[in-house]
Parts: sequence; structure tokens; C-alpha cells
Amino acid sequence: AGVLTYDPGFTSTASCKSAITFIDGEQGVLLYRGYPIQELATQSDYMEVCYLLLYGELPSTEEKAEFVNDIKRHTLLHDQLMHFFRGFTRAAHPMAIMVGVVGALSAFYHEDTDIYDPEQCMLAAYRIIAKMPTIGAYAYRYTIGRPFVYPRNDFSYAENLLYMTFSVPSEEYRPDPVLVKALDRILILHADHEQNASTSTVRLAGSSGANPFACISAGIASLWGPAHGGANEAVLKMLMEIGDKRRIPEYIARAKDKNDPFRLMGFGHRVYKNYDPRAAIMRETCHEVLEALGHEDDPLLELAMALEKIALQDEYFIERKLYPNVDFYTGIVLRAMGFPTRMFTVLFAIGRTVGWVAHWKEMISDPESKIGRPRQLYVGAPQRPFVPMEKRP
Ligand code: CMC
Repeated sequence: AGVLTYDPGFTSTASCKSAITFIDGEQGVLLYRGYPIQELATQSDYMEVCYLLLYGELPSTEEKAEFVNDIKRHTLLHDQLMHFFRGFTRAAHPMAIMVGVVGALSAFYHEDTDIYDPEQCMLAAYRIIAKMPTIGAYAYRYTIGRPFVYPRNDFSYAENLLYMTFSVPSEEYRPDPVLVKALDRILILHADHEQNASTSTVRLAGSSGANPFACISAGIASLWGPAHGGANEAVLKMLMEIGDKRRIPEYIARAKDKNDPFRLMGFGHRVYKNYDPRAAIMRETCHEVLEALGHEDDPLLELAMALEKIALQDEYFIERKLYPNVDFYTGIVLRAMGFPTRMFTVLFAIGRTVGWVAHWKEMISDPESKIGRPRQLYVGAPQRPFVPMEKRP
């Protein structure tokens, strides 16, 4: 059995070796396959980043064109899958629909998903990356009672996502290029983040050899929580609840009060103890988008900036190295784009899908990988004889 190390939350346990993403939390560095996130977010695009994460290298012009084409070939959903949406209540949270529908993909693609066949693994990766925007957009449209819109393969990934979400059949809808660029950037910023809770969940689920679509569904479930991907939705709710700059001190006091479960949403990170480089990019994007849309005076942005300023000067936050994380500004941008709050985490899930599949692929092709099976420190009752009902007190 050996000596067990007690490490709740795995703060000091490396569960695997990985060549995908590097984070230096002290310096605020994030690299995908060695490339800085700032450079990828400003000079690349999401499809290229997907290729990079999956294959380890940036694509040539031909490789990129082929990749984009291959992804587009898989954007449609099987007609039978459409029925799954109809089984949900219209009041369902779109993340609940995502968990169900993505898990259901395993029923459609099980026979040709042999995890020991690298080509079939890559096909599964393409399928899931291609179908996520379609599923996400349909989850939203279903909950608001609008008909589904088929993907348009002459559109880019982000453009298509906006199109399937917002287009109205009677109108010629073409997403605003400023929004397309901002959404593409959001997807890049969320594409991977090494062994976070949802990625670790996908790896753990997949370590038994399980179907990859089912594993991704497990990742979506983990991402939904407010301590993880659900934070972008929680930030916006919090800002709306605060409502006025004058109430910020009250909420800061609540966040510091250990008897109050309230936390400042969008603040703090397990790994970043300096600043989250994604947050810095998102802050800038937020200003750009609001300006382009003529929403510079968005009171929520003003409130967010005031909150950030006050928190960053507060002893409690300084001591604990709590800085804004990527989700602090994402929600404001997504809201300005017209996405309802409930869709925010869905968009995170769409962006993170490539990270999940890249890790899943890396794990199943790693000869050192084993089934994930943490141990525990047992703190329950010692062995004792069974007590028949008539003798129980
Ligand atoms: N507001 C108030 N206090 C906080 C916060 C916060 N947002 N985050 C951490 N703390 C305090 C915490 O109470 C603890 O204080 P003390 O040492 O006095 O007990 C100390 O800071 C360390 O916190 P922790 O909970 O031990 O840190 P963790 O690494 O386990 O948690 C976290 C990281 C992100 C879950 C946490 O900071 C948090 O809940 N933040 C708010 C939710 C959020 O924004 N999540 C998005 C994360 S980034 C997107 C993603 O990758 O999912």
C-alpha cells in the first residue's frame, strides 16, 4: 500500500505528464504548446489554436485549410439527435442540455470510436469540436422556443456559432465582424488550461477506456460549477445584484467575512497568484467591443472596473493574491454581444472542448497512463459487528 499523501484538491499532486499547456502562476505566464497566449489571442484564430493543441505544431496554409474543411464536414447533428432536445423542459439550463446531448453522442459514435485506433480518435476529436457550437446554439434556441438553424459552412467557426444562435429565418443575418473576432478570441482564451477540474474529470473518466463523448459530457458537468466555468455567469449575476458603486464596500466586506459563503466571483485562481494573463487580454477586448457597439457607458463595466480597483487595494485580497481571473470580464463582453447569462458557461464549454479532447488523446496514447484511482484516508467507523434490527437502540 505504501505511504499515502493527503492532498485535498490536488494542490501538489501531478497526476500526469503533459506537453500541451504550460502555466507559471507566479509570473502570469500561459503557453499553448510553447506559444504565449497573448500572441495567439492577437495573431492567430481559434481553428489554428485547435490544430496547435491537437497536433502540437502550428499548421501550414494547406494543413490549416484542410483542417478547417474537415471540421466543417462534421458540424451537422444526426437527425435522431434532434429528438433529444425535445425531451427537455423549455426551462432547462442550457448546460444541463449540453451534458445530456453531448453524452448522447456516444450512442451515435461508439462503434467507430476505437480508442486504440489513432485515426478513429482523431475523427472523434473532429466530430466533437465541430458539433459543440451546433449543440450549444440549439440548446439556447430550444429554451427560447425558436426553430433550429442549420450550420452554414461558408462561415468561420465563431461566425457560425453566432449565426446559429441569433439568426432569424426571415432576415439575412450576418454576424458583426467585431463580435466574430471577439468571440474567436474568447474561444482561444478558454481553449485549454492544463489540469483544471473539468480537464482532470475528462482524463479520469477516460482513463478507464470509456467512450470519449461520454467523457466530454463529464467534463461539461464539472465545468458547470460556479467555482469553475460557471463563474462567468456568476460574475454577471453578482454585478447586477451589486447594482451600484456605492454598494461595493458592502460586498467586499461580505467576501472577507468567513461566516458568509459569498465570494467575489471572477476573483482568485488556484494557480495564478500574480495575475491571470487571460484576464488582462479580456479586459482590453471588453473595452474594444463595448466601444465598437457604442456601449462604452455600460454601467456594468463601470461597476466592474470600480470593483476591481477597490478589491486590488484591499489588504485581504492583496495578502491572498486574489486577482481578477478570465471570467471577470468575459461575462460583460458576452452580454454586450447579446448572449443571455445562461449561455456564458456554454461558450466556455465550446472553447474548452479542444483542450479536453487534446488531453484525452494525449492520455490514451501515453504508455505510462493508468486508470485514475486516487486513494483516501479512511476516517469512518472501525470494524464492528452487525446489529440486528431488534437490538438497535
Ligand atoms: N472571494 C473571497 N475570498 C476568496 C476568493 C474570492 N473569490 N477566492 C479565494 N478566497 C480566499 C479563501 O477564502 C481563502 O481564504 P483563507 O486563506 O482566509 O481561508 C483563500 O482566499 C484561498 O482560497 P482557496 O479557496 O483555498 O483557493 P482555491 O485555490 O481552492 O480556489 C478558486 C480557487 C478559483 C475556486 C477561488 O478563488 C474562487 O472560488 N473564486 C471565485 C470563483 C471563480 O471566479 N472561479 C473561476 C476560476 S477561473 C476560470 C476557470 O478556470 O474555471
